[in-house]
Amino acid sequence: MDKEVYNKFVGFQQGELDAVYMYRKLAEIAKTPEEKEAFLEAAKDEGKHAAILSKYTGKDLKPDETLGNTVQKLYKFMPRRISLFGVAQGEYMGGKGYRPYIADYPELEEIMFDEYRHGDKMKSLSKK
Ligand SMILES: [Fe+2]
Ligand SMILES: [Fe+2]
Repeated sequence: MDKEVYNKFVGFQQGELDAVYMYRKLAEIAKTPEEKEAFLEAAKDEGKHAAILSKYTGKDLKPDETLGNTVQKLYKFMPRRISLFGVAQGEYMGGKGYRPYIADYPELEEIMFDEYRHGDKMKSLSKK
C-alpha cells in the first residue's frame, strides 16, 4: 500500500469512528424508537467498518467529537427533513469515497454498500 492510499485509509478509519460517535449521540436523544434502533444499528456498522480499516492502518484512533456534537444539535433543533436528510447525504458521500479502492481492496465494497443502506434509511426517516 503506498503512502497516499495509506493516508486515505487513515482518513476513512477516522471518519468511521466519528460516525460511531455521531450515531451514539443521535441515539441518546432519538425522537422515536424506530430512529433509536436505526441509529444504534448504524453505530454498530460504523464500528465494524473502523475495525476493518484498522487492519490496514495498524492505528488505534480516537473519535473526533465535533461532527457528532454538531449533528446532535441539528437533530435536536431542526426538523428531521433537514437534519436526517443531511446525515443521509453524508452517508452517500462516504459510500462513494470507497468506490475507487474496491478493485484493489474488495473488502471495502461491503462498507460502501452499508453506507448506501444507511443513507437510504436516514433518508426514509427524514420523510416521516
Ligand atoms: Fe461506515
Ligand atoms: Fe454509515
